[in-house]
Amino acid sequence: MKGVILAGGLGTRLYPLTYATNKHLLPVYNQPMIFYPIQTLVKAGITEIMIVVSGPHSGDFIHVLKNGKEFGITHLEYAYQEKPNGGIADALALAEDFADSGAITVILGDNTTDADISPSIKSFKEGALVFVKKVSDPTRFGVPKFDPSDNKKILEILEKPKDPPSDFAVTGLYIYDKNVFEHIRNCKPSGRGELEITDVNNVYIQKGQLGWAELDGYWLDAGTYDTLLQANVYWSKKESAPVKISE
Ligand code: DAU
Repeated sequence: MKGVILAGGLGTRLYPLTYATNKHLLPVYNQPMIFYPIQTLVKAGITEIMIVVSGPHSGDFIHVLKNGKEFGITHLEYAYQEKPNGGIADALALAEDFADSGAITVILGDNTTDADISPSIKSFKEGALVFVKKVSDPTRFGVPKFDPSDNKKILEILEKPKDPPSDFAVTGLYIYDKNVFEHIRNCKPSGRGELEITDVNNVYIQKGQLGWAELDGYWLDAGTYDTLLQANVYWSKKESAPVKISE
């Protein structure tokens, strides 16, 4: 299977940190943020990767990642999203030729996890699969509403709901079959003017083709000041002795 990392957007939630660089190149402990989703894919056996970039600092990705060989990537391709905040589904649409009618694993460039997603990739056949994780602040995410009579089934996903139907987040890790691009074409921009990945996932639900798996491991979307700090702390503890600050 091939992999797609979505690293477009303007990172406005992180202004002024993202005035002079792209969000996904900011440090998370000892690595730029984008290294983490790359490592998640490569660890799962995915070595053909497309990275979707946008905005004023797009060229910097090549300086940092080059041709991807040092990560074990065998084929690295870049796509440029013209409307930087067109939405996650708008960014994913650019991967259609790259996917070449095959299934793809997709990761948002600001998601860091140490979970092993390879079992789900190996067993994936058709439709779509979302990875979910229990969180303390579901209102920040896409939130699944589970069927009360069959909690293995997601009835609907609500994007950033005020009144979340569960305490799970739909993380920014997904597996899609080739039909995802057709579903994106049928989507309309949301109230905030974006093509929403949640709308695409809801199409799969309506067709009875959405599966889910719980991410077994640490997961964090590092897209806000607080979660960026949390990600730095987590990875510093995991990778080495935590930094000690003496007064
Ligand atoms: O992190 C998980 C959450 O990510 C999900 O629970 C939500 O359902 C999903 O909508 C998304 O929410 P966010 O508000 O966190 O998305 P954000 O706008 O921060 O975009 C996340 C990444 O997607 C960003 O780091 C790069 C990529 N992206 C985003 C947009 C809007 C693009 O490549 N292009 C875009 O136009």
